Amino acid sequence: MISLLCVFSFSSVAQGHRAIAAPDTFSSDVGMAVLQKGGNAIDAAIAVQFALAVTLPEAGNIGGGGFMVIHTDRGNDFIDYRETAPAAASRDMYLDKDGNVERLKSLFGIYASGTPGTVAGMWEAHKKYGTLPWAELVQPAIDLAENGFIVPEKLGKKISSYIERMSKRDVDINFVDYFGHAKSGELFKQPELAETLKRIRDNGTDGFYKGKTAQIIADFMTQKGGLLTAKDLADYTAKLREPVTTQWRNYTLVSAAPPSSGGVAISQWLNMYDLLAPRTKAADGSLTPMHPHNSTEYVHLLAEIGKRVFADRSEYLGDPDFYKVPVAALTNPEYIAKRASGVKRKSISTTEKIRPGLTESEQTTHFSILDQYGNAVSNTTTINLSFGSGVVVEGAGFLLNNEMDDFSVKAGVPNFFGAVGGVANEIQPFKRMLSSMSPTIVLEDGDVRLVTGAPGGTTIITSVYQSILNTLEFNMSAQDAVDAPRFHHQLLPKDEIRHHKGLQQSVIDELNDMGYKVKERRFGDLHLIHVKEEGVEAASESHGRGKAQVSAVAPK
Ligand code: DON
Repeated sequence: MISLLCVFSFSSVAQGHRAIAAPDTFSSDVGMAVLQKGGNAIDAAIAVQFALAVTLPEAGNIGGGGFMVIHTDRGNDFIDYRETAPAAASRDMYLDKDGNVERLKSLFGIYASGTPGTVAGMWEAHKKYGTLPWAELVQPAIDLAENGFIVPEKLGKKISSYIERMSKRDVDINFVDYFGHAKSGELFKQPELAETLKRIRDNGTDGFYKGKTAQIIADFMTQKGGLLTAKDLADYTAKLREPVTTQWRNYTLVSAAPPSSGGVAISQWLNMYDLLAPRTKAADGSLTPMHPHNSTEYVHLLAEIGKRVFADRSEYLGDPDFYKVPVAALTNPEYIAKRASGVKRKSISTTEKIRPGLTESEQTTHFSILDQYGNAVSNTTTINLSFGSGVVVEGAGFLLNNEMDDFSVKAGVPNFFGAVGGVANEIQPFKRMLSSMSPTIVLEDGDVRLVTGAPGGTTIITSVYQSILNTLEFNMSAQDAVDAPRFHHQLLPKDEIRHHKGLQQSVIDELNDMGYKVKERRFGDLHLIHVKEEGVEAASESHGRGKAQVSAVAPK
């Protein structure tokens, strides 16, 4: 008699599939084509990133930056391609002579941009993990820019409403010259961008940071009075760092490291939640969450935790090359337990009393990819707000970021996303501004279970940790998990809970009665891949223009 021992593993499920959840159909199809050609998740990610620079101009970019979390059989990795402050930047550069913040200056126009990191980030990813030729991965983006693509209705509307809004503001931007003719349902070509992408295809990272593209950028800056120089570009490097890797239950959370606050915040949020809301075990071994999903008790508990997470974020998080970020201390189980012990179950902790704990001693985009080899990429990229600074580099055809606003331009004064900061995140030349981008991969026994991430400023952290709870705590399908209403609290504004797509009215009433101010606001769209025993699910949030797809690998 032959007996077969069948040991289940998530990697065996993952390896039968290729999956992608990306923020538009063009990039999703480009990524899937690379996977089907035999490329790995990193190859696909590079092709998707460049395609998004063409078809998702509000956030996809070569003029911005981002973070890539990678899982392969060689381990986990983190590529930091965040923008840096130009050499000529200084701490008070966005203050007027009376010391008041000039918000428009850090958000719109030539002065708002950090040195872009995207091309260097993709180049590093390719050098270390790429299997298909670089040129083959950049080419789909060139085709989309040169031959054009039909503008989706949602993009057309976004562009016209941005042009309308900006026309009423006192900002010096040239967005309309480049995007004014991008109309819903019509073909839109970007010839200058196509030429820039060809230089990147042919010369790799030097096609952007040196030679003709760098010269065009530097000349444009000189002409417009911007800060970025050819030397800033030549000096830029993407950095390979250790991802923030922490435990939550029997899962390993692999997430963004500083200069992102994401990995630390997600680990704190989920681990405090577990201490405060332990599940009950039934006789059959099944586990039931303490509070129903999105009930008043659940929302309040996670808001209380959020107060503490954001108090720490504003004090301790910044660019680790400039400021010693105490990652280990902030994610230490004893510290988490101590922090959790202050949470009030029935009432709201006083905002002013929530201090950083250790002292006692709208537009980004994301895609998630899984390949047939069991590798995964979670990548979030941004030019900060929709269409970044609104400035296109004339002659090179791409939008520049307005990432400088993510610095704490004045201690204690909130940035666009309401986040405050101090010394850890003050402006210094070459420093990376603090981010909330939280590309995350969740592993179980070393195998990929979730690949998740989202845009949305500070609400990114919430979207990501709630996508983890929705799937792994509440057993939702991937689609339900990304579409479920989410809610967010970040210490400031005081006792404000933002929610997205509707908490129940009775819950809102109860939260208001407790003293919260509950407001409706859209969050960014989640893109999630979930490896389950039954197979692989991928989902992009329904309201967006994303496309998630899974293709099974034919058995040999
Ligand atoms: O890095 C950050 O945290 C922000 N620049 C992200 C901006 C963002 O998500 C805007 N999206 N809706």
